Amino acid sequence: TECSPPTAAANVSQYACLRRTTTENHNKIFTDVLEELAENSEFNESKGPCLAFRRAASVLKSLPSAVHCLGAIQGLPCLGEHTKAVMEEILIFGRSFKVEEVQSDERYQALKLFTSVFGVGPKTAEKWYRRGLRSLKEILAEPNIQLNRMQRAGFLYYRDISKAVSKAEAKALRSIIEETAHWIAPDSILALTGGFRRGKEYGHDVDFLLTMPEMGKEKGLLVRVIDRLRDQGILLYCEHQGSTVDMSKLPSRRFEAMDHFEKCFLILRLEEGQMEGDGGLQKDPGESRGWRAVRVDLVAPPVDHYAFALLGWTGSRQFERDLRRFARKERGMSLDNHALYDKTKKLFLPATSEEDIFAHLGLEYVEPWQRNA
Ligand code: CTP
Ligand code: MN
Ligand code: MN
Ligand code: MN
Repeated sequence: TECSPPTAAANVSQYACLRRTTTENHNKIFTDVLEELAENSEFNESKGPCLAFRRAASVLKSLPSAVHCLGAIQGLPCLGEHTKAVMEEILIFGRSFKVEEVQSDERYQALKLFTSVFGVGPKTAEKWYRRGLRSLKEILAEPNIQLNRMQRAGFLYYRDISKAVSKAEAKALRSIIEETAHWIAPDSILALTGGFRRGKEYGHDVDFLLTMPEMGKEKGLLVRVIDRLRDQGILLYCEHQGSTVDMSKLPSRRFEAMDHFEKCFLILRLEEGQMEGDGGLQKDPGESRGWRAVRVDLVAPPVDHYAFALLGWTGSRQFERDLRRFARKERGMSLDNHALYDKTKKLFLPATSEEDIFAHLGLEYVEPWQRNA
């Protein structure tokens, strides 16, 4: 059948911050495969191909309808030869042989499994693979492997943490942490960020920002919140990082670099009775023990950095990458989780809201639920 490019294709930007991407993905059959190929490239330290696959997936996620033929992707940015070949396979055979080859690869399987453990990155996973280890059982049985505290927690709560967190669970956690924070400081502000702020139904964790309306008053708050969660018996694991904000430094060019805000990576115990709408009943009395472990990220920026922290922690990762790339390439500015710096004018551009930051960049405001790039 005749298949012409959609007229909209010409208007799709190469930058995710100039696209609107909701959680409704009409091209999941392509993007799932492309993201798996990106992950494989990451394991092989092929940065170029990894980024290319991620960008391609992101462009497809922004389309208002499903792609039914190769003609429909003509004129779209970021779709290279490899991506087009993969899409052609899927369109013709309903499957991708290239991704099936990757999925059946022993090394890919092992690295994917190992990095699914909280605290295990690609480097550690690779080390274990090279030692001939292939399963989580083998790692736990290997006497010469020294797990750090985070990895021990990762193994201990592996089943729970691997299970997606629902919106209802995120809401329940929000109430608990908010109540705890208000008990310590009644005017403290807790905001949901990450995937749930973007409207996602499920996440791998729940992300929050915690701050005080008055500058400097946030100091010591996070530690007191953590102590209180511990006293309540719901703190299963806590990795606390003190603030290292150094404003003399210019915004970092490296996206993956950690920001300098005080933060903690937590595992919390969520009672099923605390869930709204289930009447305190266990869904499956046979299997459920009445609670689950959940990963929570809690970041405590000072209020003068709040807008940048909120924008940076709302994601998606691809949206953030492209915001920074757009700032750098199109505006001669440098953006990170702390600040926006105009390199031509040699000055920092202040902001009290996300809208301010988009305006400084000369971008139309993109709502959080449109940032699922
Ligand atoms: N982020 C960051 N610095 C980190 C970790 C995360 O700036 N050290 C930001 C990223 O921009 C990311 C957002 O925080 O998009 C949330 O991170 P994460 O929880 O990993 O991803 P989500 O988008 O929330 O997706 P998920 O549902 O898998 O949690
Ligand atoms: Mn998250
Ligand atoms: Mn994530
Ligand atoms: Mn997170």
